[in-house]
Amino acid sequence: MDVLEFNTILSLLNKKAGFDPDVVRRENIKRAVENRMTYCGAPDMKAYLPLLINSAREMGELIEEVIVPETWFLRDREPFKFLENYIKTDWQPNQFGKILRVLSVPCSTGEEPYSIAMTLLLSGLSTKEFQIEAVDISNESLAKAKNAVYGKNSFRGAVLGPYWQYFKQEPEGLKVVDEVAEVVSFSQGNILDGFNVVADGIFDIIFCRNLLIYLDKDAKQKLIKILDQRLSMNGIMFLGHAETGIISDSRFNRVDHERAFAFKRKVHEKKQTKTVDHKPFSAIKTGRKKIRMAVSKIPEKVALPIHNELDDKHKHKHKNKPNLQSSIEKASLLADRGRLDEAMAICQDCLSSGGPNAEAYFILGLINHASGNDVDAEQYFNKTIYLQPDHYDALVHIALIMENRHDVDSANVLRQRAQRAKQKNG
Ligand SMILES: C[S@@+](CC[C@H](N)C(=O)[O-])C[C@H]1O[C@@H](n2cnc3c(N)ncnc32)[C@H](O)[C@@H]1O
Repeated sequence: MDVLEFNTILSLLNKKAGFDPDVVRRENIKRAVENRMTYCGAPDMKAYLPLLINSAREMGELIEEVIVPETWFLRDREPFKFLENYIKTDWQPNQFGKILRVLSVPCSTGEEPYSIAMTLLLSGLSTKEFQIEAVDISNESLAKAKNAVYGKNSFRGAVLGPYWQYFKQEPEGLKVVDEVAEVVSFSQGNILDGFNVVADGIFDIIFCRNLLIYLDKDAKQKLIKILDQRLSMNGIMFLGHAETGIISDSRFNRVDHERAFAFKRKVHEKKQTKTVDHKPFSAIKTGRKKIRMAVSKIPEKVALPIHNELDDKHKHKHKNKPNLQSSIEKASLLADRGRLDEAMAICQDCLSSGGPNAEAYFILGLINHASGNDVDAEQYFNKTIYLQPDHYDALVHIALIMENRHDVDSANVLRQRAQRAKQKNG
């Protein structure tokens, strides 16, 4: 064997896909390289190496040979039981009207994202109430996933029970019904490339199972960071059963369901900040410096008179038809005057009577941001961009929060997204 060339190939594979050569066995990689050499007509590794270095496509083909596309429906079972229970007892009562966003990466040949879709339907969500993005590096696996027809190997003794209704028998195997197949959107990408791989956005549920085990230490850390950035504040991250030791105990808690291998972010204690100076609230909308100034002057409550007409309108809102827009305007005005408690109450009121509203969430985000409560602020800004993905100010504020956390990569991506939103909105 050409030892030097083989070691170079190992290090190229490691750089590109993060594979740990001690886990993805050398013999497997060697066999994969030999297959590709035969395919390309390269007599030895010396001849093959330049082909690999100069062609992203050949690198992709080699990765296809190396990967382990092992997966099956309802793998490990308990994660799906936990998910069903979570949707029924937590998501549906608390997040009414919001679209649940799910990421399945790596999705391999599709059994995992389809199992998730079926579980969500069984939990009582309609296909309009959730979106599933599924990503894998392997085009071959994705082609099988999109075909959605499966043989015995994709079930491995899983007890399907109510899941049977989502399959129909075809000559080549069991086909996932269209209702389920249509809610999963597949795309090809290397998750280690981070933000380029999946569409913009934050996910409420992330399944990232049985990839971390194949990665070396640096790639593991990089991947966890990428997932962390994409997980919503109250989101749930599912890992593989052998991967649970990789996630930081100081940042995540295991959910209370045995063998679900799922994690939730630890919630930091809320800062008690109820009052603010009377700096016009709109002045803190535009940049970190101004926000810091506002926060540093929060000594005591300054009750400024608000125009009576606005007060009257609000008081009589139950008599008259609720006017959401004027309530939001009033909340903004109250916030401008430093009457944050009242502004918050109006926003909460709008949300409970009128349902999710981007501007109400945005004002709540601003109030929390100005009060130094970045955890809640981020959550409200995320809700804003769920509802209005091109909300420029919300995007800029999340970018500021990311910068405060020294997460420069995420901040840059958000700023670029804000820029695109600005251009789009003129
Ligand atoms: C063992 S399967 C796991 C599938 C599924 N998550 C499960 O647990 O059943 C591993 C998958 O990881 C994919 N993969 C490997 N490296 C990847 C990367 N850097 N980005 C995206 N997918 C990757 C492979 O193509 C393969 O389909």
